[in-house]
Amino acid sequence: MVRLRSPSLIFVAFCLITLLAGCSRKDEKVVTFSVGGAPNELEFWEVLITQFEEQTGIKVDILRQPTDTDQRRQGLVISLKSKKSDPDVFLMDVAWIAQFAASNWLAGLDEKIWDSPQRDSTLTGRFHTPHFPPFFEKVVNLADRYRGTLIALPVYIDGGLLYYRKDLLEKYGIKSPPETWKELIEYSLRIQEDIRKTNPDFYGFVWQGAQYEGLVCNFLEFAVSNEGGINFEGDKILLNTSENIEAVKLMNELITKYKISPPSTFTEMKEEEVRAYFELGNALFERNWPYAWSLHQHQDSLVRDKVGIAKLPHFKSGKSVSTLGGWHIGISKYSDVKELSWEFVKFVTSYNTQKRLAMELGWNPGRVDVYGDRDVLRNLPHFAGLRNVFENAHPRPLLPYYTQISEVLQRYINAVFAGALSPEAALLAAEKEAQKIVERYK
Ligand code: GLC
Repeated sequence: MVRLRSPSLIFVAFCLITLLAGCSRKDEKVVTFSVGGAPNELEFWEVLITQFEEQTGIKVDILRQPTDTDQRRQGLVISLKSKKSDPDVFLMDVAWIAQFAASNWLAGLDEKIWDSPQRDSTLTGRFHTPHFPPFFEKVVNLADRYRGTLIALPVYIDGGLLYYRKDLLEKYGIKSPPETWKELIEYSLRIQEDIRKTNPDFYGFVWQGAQYEGLVCNFLEFAVSNEGGINFEGDKILLNTSENIEAVKLMNELITKYKISPPSTFTEMKEEEVRAYFELGNALFERNWPYAWSLHQHQDSLVRDKVGIAKLPHFKSGKSVSTLGGWHIGISKYSDVKELSWEFVKFVTSYNTQKRLAMELGWNPGRVDVYGDRDVLRNLPHFAGLRNVFENAHPRPLLPYYTQISEVLQRYINAVFAGALSPEAALLAAEKEAQKIVERYK
């Protein structure tokens, strides 16, 4: 033990300790990761982060965000607009990556991804030519490159699915899930009428109709399955078409005419509200993303082992359509720890982490190689059959100003459900307003 006698020595020692403590605090580089989602998803991120910290010694702070995509985007926009160095890494909805890229808020990843040659164990001393990891190529080219530069990587791919109560369809002698919207209405009315005798809260079909991005995802599934959608003719946006009017009319009638969807559809129903409703055993059909599967199968779920998954129905003349959703990881251009952030991105997109995301959350990984994994296929048998649903899912327009167009559509379609406008008046007004946005960015 060193004994310090002179006061000046004690002073020097004190200064040294203070300095070292200061240094180590300053030198401890932390990656700040911003992510939202359902409560079980956030818990899962915490577990993953602990594992990453143990493996690498790099510290990650998590910034928890809500589930709603619009709120998540707004939170990030505030930090990025003010050029804050935190968060360093974040997940982005496929719907708004283009906006972030066009605003020049994302660090380029090309050099990083090509810069990790693997030593070939069979040919001593040789290196494999660096190769691009096996992500869904179509999705990467569509969403993760902006003007040729790679600015994000897909963590998971979403596509709208139809969940249905297998037990109830069987009980009422219905052999397979509905293929058309008309069949969905017929089955719902029949079964709902009977079950209502004992459960007045029971509805045929729950889906996302609240005024937010999810409503536009649902709208596209109705509209594109009727050969409509958000289309462009040169610089002219086409929303006010007979196909779209029919789609909005049908969505509205599910609530107001057939009453197979609850009135809360347009006031409250977002992903989590819809999932909870179905999970309480109060609905026959549910439109949701793949994440709902593992929660429906949870031991506390009232519908455990009673649920099937199918493609979404379509209009008589159209075909089934899933909106392409999903979340992608990127690094902020303003991050002051880009190298450490990249280590975290590599970890999140590695085979092992992607496999865990599939096994434990039921997410569809952004990496194609995980789909052939034996454990994944055993745990999630529906994966194999649904892979092409995700590969062919319908993207929202990948425009930097898409969220503004979406906001207009959300407002007008929701107003139809509220009884304030007819589908015709709503789409006419939405088209006029959206056209002004297009003109502004032309
Ligand atoms: C899901 C999808 C996302 C979509 C959102 C709408 O999170 O992955 O792409 O925008 O739902 O609520």
